[in-house]
Amino acid sequence: MLNKANIEHEKLKVGSPFFKDALAPTRDEATLLFLLDNLGKLPAGFNGELFIPLLMHANPKIRMLAAKNVGKLKDEKFLTELSQLAATEENTFARREVISAIGRMRSEKAIPILTKFLADVDPKVVLQALRGLLYFKKKPEVQTALDFLRKHPNEIIREHLNSEMNNKSTQSQSTKKDRHHPTSPDILKNVIIHADVQEALKVIPDESIHLTFTSPPYYNARDYTIYQSYHAYLDFLTTIFKETHRITKEGRFFVLNTSPVIVPRISRAHSSKRYAIPYDIHPRLTDIGWEFIDDIVWTKPDYAAKNRNGGFFQHRKPLGYKANSVTESVMVYRKKTDKLIDWNIRQYDDETVEASKVMGEYEKTNLWHINPATDKVHPAVFPAELAARIVQFYSFKGDLVFDPFGGSGTVGHVALIHERYFLLCEKETEYFEHSKQLLDVNLFTDIKPRSLSLTELKKSELAERNSGL
Ligand SMILES: C[S@@+](CC[C@H](N)C(=O)[O-])C[C@H]1O[C@@H](n2cnc3c(N)ncnc32)[C@H](O)[C@@H]1O
Repeated sequence: MLNKANIEHEKLKVGSPFFKDALAPTRDEATLLFLLDNLGKLPAGFNGELFIPLLMHANPKIRMLAAKNVGKLKDEKFLTELSQLAATEENTFARREVISAIGRMRSEKAIPILTKFLADVDPKVVLQALRGLLYFKKKPEVQTALDFLRKHPNEIIREHLNSEMNNKSTQSQSTKKDRHHPTSPDILKNVIIHADVQEALKVIPDESIHLTFTSPPYYNARDYTIYQSYHAYLDFLTTIFKETHRITKEGRFFVLNTSPVIVPRISRAHSSKRYAIPYDIHPRLTDIGWEFIDDIVWTKPDYAAKNRNGGFFQHRKPLGYKANSVTESVMVYRKKTDKLIDWNIRQYDDETVEASKVMGEYEKTNLWHINPATDKVHPAVFPAELAARIVQFYSFKGDLVFDPFGGSGTVGHVALIHERYFLLCEKETEYFEHSKQLLDVNLFTDIKPRSLSLTELKKSELAERNSGL
């Protein structure tokens, strides 16, 4: 019987007739597929000729796996067979594997073949040809060929090419620490700024915060007069989130809580209008350089939703259905970088990483059931539980957590509880005063929470900058 253990056992026997028999093209497809898929690392001297007839097999999956196994041998003597197959192979998965096997040979003779496949119709084949050619990227003819790809319509190809040509991939594996990464300016720690965030952001230095969690004002949902138009509203948010990107440290997170809003109808003769804020802001965020990471859905109990079902419940006529909205979106983004998340974690000392671990039970799906919160002063607070999850999942102890639309100060309070620092901004005096009260608590922190006006913030920023000169 064929199983993984006896495949491993037979591989160790040099010159065993086992594989000649087991890989015969006349074998049944299930056995061939199992064997080819489970051969693993091939020992030196493995007879690669056994795969060659399988490159012509009627089943494309067998052709693909045969090419994959030839690739493991990295032997240029198979170049002719593989390039013949590449020229005629119609199955794109098999063609990709053939091109990958050719690339793995690292043979100069493969350069013209790989170059030809840079023009393949399938981006995954192009990507394999590109990866094979990058080994020869110093050769002028290869550089010319790769230049042709700079305008390729596929973004993954363009990004891979750019990062490899700029040697960024080696940087992403870099073990060198950026000693500033875990730190933030003291003047920004545990501060509520009483100002329009557009002005406040101008004073905040580049790369000074670790995490942003925010829920922006909802487009004219409560008051018609605030924004000239929906477009102007999105432009306003885009400006704020572009500046947030600038002040965020490399590879760190931005989490945005929004949901579609309804702007009430003008009269009974009109219908109300619904605006899909999360979907409309998303492309703007990725354009800024926020990389999409996760879409978390915050679900509230049914009773928390405004009833939109009155009419339909009575008449039951199609087209009149309106769903009660019990969810809000919590979109997670990361400041785009070539560095892996591991690099961010490595910037912290072992004690901080250990102390910041999220222990015990936690939500494993993207559906978060959390009851909504209410506040006696602020009409639209998010629950502390929501902020607590975000703070714990996306920051370390001692990090600086920012909320440009601070409201009642939920993010600040949660940051303190979890031994992070906060930086909040709130323009409405009533909410600013209210958040000051929430944050004037005796929680463990080495820096007492304080509030600053824009003028005070500018002065202290200037003072800190001058003291550093
Ligand atoms: C949805 S609420 C945030 C509530 C907050 N998450 C909480 O739990 O209390 C949005 C807040 O942004 C504030 N805001 C709106 N425009 C602003 C601006 N340009 N600068 C600063 N704050 C602003 C509003 O006054 C409001 O308190």
